[in-house]
Amino acid sequence: MFPALFLSLLVYTAVAEDKDGALPRLGDVGAAEAFIDSAEVVVVGFFEGEDSHGYKEFVEAAKEVKPIPVAVCGEKEVWANLSIVSDTITIFRKADNHQENLQLSEAKKIETDGLVRFITVNELRYITEYNQVTAVGLFNSDVKTHLLLFTSRGSDDYTVLKDRMGALAPEFTGKFLFVLINGAVKANERSLGYFGLKSGDLPRVGIYDGDSDMKWLLPEGEISTERVREFCQSFLRGDLKEVKEAGPESKTEL
Ligand SMILES: *[C@@H]1O[C@H](CO)[C@@H](O)[C@H](O)[C@H]1NC(C)=O
Repeated sequence: MFPALFLSLLVYTAVAEDKDGALPRLGDVGAAEAFIDSAEVVVVGFFEGEDSHGYKEFVEAAKEVKPIPVAVCGEKEVWANLSIVSDTITIFRKADNHQENLQLSEAKKIETDGLVRFITVNELRYITEYNQVTAVGLFNSDVKTHLLLFTSRGSDDYTVLKDRMGALAPEFTGKFLFVLINGAVKANERSLGYFGLKSGDLPRVGIYDGDSDMKWLLPEGEISTERVREFCQSFLRGDLKEVKEAGPESKTEL
């Protein structure tokens, strides 16, 4: 018993003395590429050193955004490769193949809360749940077309449908953002109403195109990978534009 206790004390001390906890350091371009590829969303703090303005706040923010992987990098070779010119916090995400930079020299005040918000706003995934925070990131993306899955958390097929759509999303990177709208949340009633839906009508799938401000519903029926893929492809072919929109004004679907 004594050796085990001694060992655990040693381990505890080692972790406690490591000021920035478990933040990995990216030593070269290969390591950076592997890290960026390791998850749908990752964050890297590019800092000259630990004394740099904002470093402490970044380490604190990293703890708050768990489980998002976070690393630090001070290697200029990597900075050049990723077009980083000065201390910067960057979020890399696969959903729209995007690198969002927060250049710290341009930020007026650096606070942990502000960094956490920067990260959570930009945390778009292959399927992103819509809320007030992610709405900002969704509408800032260059990808203006959303494939919407309306489903209520707690319903039988919620997890199955979410996973199924999340698995389809990579086929449409750069074309669609896949967004989950939880019908069990009162604040989402407006989004449902925009498509002429009530929470009792779910699950359903729709497309919203921000460029043309038009919207369509996939007709009722099984929400299979094949049907949704075809729905997305028909939008990309331009077939949907000739079809009547969904919504309260025009009840016709497709
Ligand atoms: C970054 O590094 C990768 C791999 O070494 C290389 O293929 C790419 O061209 C580099 N990009 C820039 C902008 O230097």
